[in-house]
Amino acid sequence: MKKLIIVLALLLLVPAYALGVEINQSVVSTQTNLRELMEDTLSQMQRLLAGVIYQNTYEAGQAAIAIAAHPLPASGAPKAGVGYFIAPEHRLAVLKALPTFKDAVHGPALELDAAAKKGDWDLALQKFHDILNGCNACHKVAKPLTIDNVILERNKDEISKMKKTIVK
Ligand code: HEC
Repeated sequence: MKKLIIVLALLLLVPAYALGVEINQSVVSTQTNLRELMEDTLSQMQRLLAGVIYQNTYEAGQAAIAIAAHPLPASGAPKAGVGYFIAPEHRLAVLKALPTFKDAVHGPALELDAAAKKGDWDLALQKFHDILNGCNACHKVAKPLTIDNVILERNKDEISKMKKTIVK
C-alpha cells in the first residue's frame, strides 16, 4: 500500500514538474494586453533576481526563459501592442526600433540562463543588469512618445496656466 501511494504521488508529481518547465507564465489569454505582459515581466524580474542572488539555478533559469520567451500580447486585443500607446506621428519610428529593444532584453536573458546553468553567478548578475538596461532603453524612448505624454507636453503651458487659477 505504501509503495502504491509513493508510485501514485510520483505519477502526479512528474506531470506537474513537466508543466512547470513548459509553462513559464501566468498571463496567457486571448485578451492579454501589453500592460499585463509588462507587469508579469516585472514579477519575472523579481523572481530572476531572487534566483540570482540566492544562486538557485532552477528559479533563475525559469524566470530568464519566461522573460526571453514571453507570450506575445494577443494580436487584435485592445491595448495589445506597443504601438497602441505611442502617438501616431512617432509610431513608425518606435515600431522600427522594436527588434533592437527586444534583443537587448531577450539576449541577456538567454545568456543569464546559460550562466546560471554553469553556476557562474557573477556573470548571471551582470546579465541581470544588462536586462534591466534593456527594459530601461525602451522605456526611455517610448515613455515621452506615448499619446498621454505627447498630449501633456503639447498642452503644458495651458495646464500650468490652469493650475495658477486655483484660489487659495
Ligand atoms: C520594446 C519596448 C519595451 C521593453 C523592452 C520593455 N518595456 Fe515595459 N513598457 C513598454 C511600454 C510601451 C509600456 C506602456 C507605456 C504606458 O503605459 O504608457 C511599458 C510599461 C511597463 C510597465 C508599467 C505597466 C503598467 O501597469 O502601467 C512596467 C512595470 C514595465 N513596462 C516593465 C518592464 C520590464 C521589467 C521590462 C524588462 C524586462 C520592460 N518593461 C521592457 C515598453 C517596453
